[in-house]
Amino acid sequence: MDQCIVVTGASNGIGRAIANLFCEKNFPVVGIDLVAPKGKAKFQFMKADVSNKHELAKIGIAINAKNHSVLAVINNAAVQVEKGILETTEEEWDRVLSVNLKAIMLTTQSFFPFLKSGSSIVNLSSVHARATSKGMAAYVASKGAISALTRAMALELGEYGIRVNAINPGAVDTAMLQKGLARNASPGQALKKLQSSSPLNKLGSPNDIANLALFLVDPELAGNITGQEFYCDGGVTAKLASE
Ligand SMILES: NC(=O)c1ccc[n+]([C@@H]2O[C@H](COP(=O)([O-])OP(=O)(O)OC[C@H]3O[C@@H](n4cnc5c(N)ncnc54)[C@H](O)[C@@H]3O)[C@@H](O)[C@H]2O)c1
Repeated sequence: MDQCIVVTGASNGIGRAIANLFCEKNFPVVGIDLVAPKGKAKFQFMKADVSNKHELAKIGIAINAKNHSVLAVINNAAVQVEKGILETTEEEWDRVLSVNLKAIMLTTQSFFPFLKSGSSIVNLSSVHARATSKGMAAYVASKGAISALTRAMALELGEYGIRVNAINPGAVDTAMLQKGLARNASPGQALKKLQSSSPLNKLGSPNDIANLALFLVDPELAGNITGQEFYCDGGVTAKLASE
């Protein structure tokens, strides 16, 4: 029985880098996304909305038909609404919380039958779980909740030998970051400021996050690590505001 990797939001950005890296390591990868990947994908693309349990159930049926077990579920898909608490509509709030947070419950319930002792779940949180910026309230709430949910899942799934961890990226150069920068009067200046806020004076790359996911999924390297969050942010959260 082959062990596959399920990656949500696999068509772009960080998800695509994660899916590609696991393919390079010769894992069958099921990449779930709303949109098809551009160009030739190395992974098996399956179209689904991660916030819809019926669409996820169909993916479960496909995994079952291939007689695969699942070594890891990487919950990466997310959306961001660039609005503060006073401007966010109820519909926007519900969408962000559904795609970013509820989907983790749904993928866990949908794919649990395929997880074995030694399998793991990796949830993409964010530096915004710890400290944040104005104008993205729903997104920030979802990421804080993902960090807490990761701990709850680790406690509950530990008895099955399933580990659950979170990755908290800082700024990574993807479409989501560019969209966030675009809300500034000068996106170029905002990008420079973001870069220089890191002690390493650079943005993260999708591959930085993919490498960390690969480590966390490996039962030999990370077999005693669960319920933790790993900041991969170039040291941004290590810095006092006065620095
Ligand atoms: N880029 C950053 O700076 C940054 C920083 C911290 C955390 N993160 C987190 O990393 C993860 C990946 O971010 P990214 O920058 O690669 O984002 P991105 O917007 O570039 O890619 C997200 C992918 O998720 C897919 N997606 C969105 N809604 C979906 C749904 N309902 N069902 C299925 N797929 C859906 C999109 O189609 C897209 O392919 C997210 O969880 C994000 O919050 C990113």
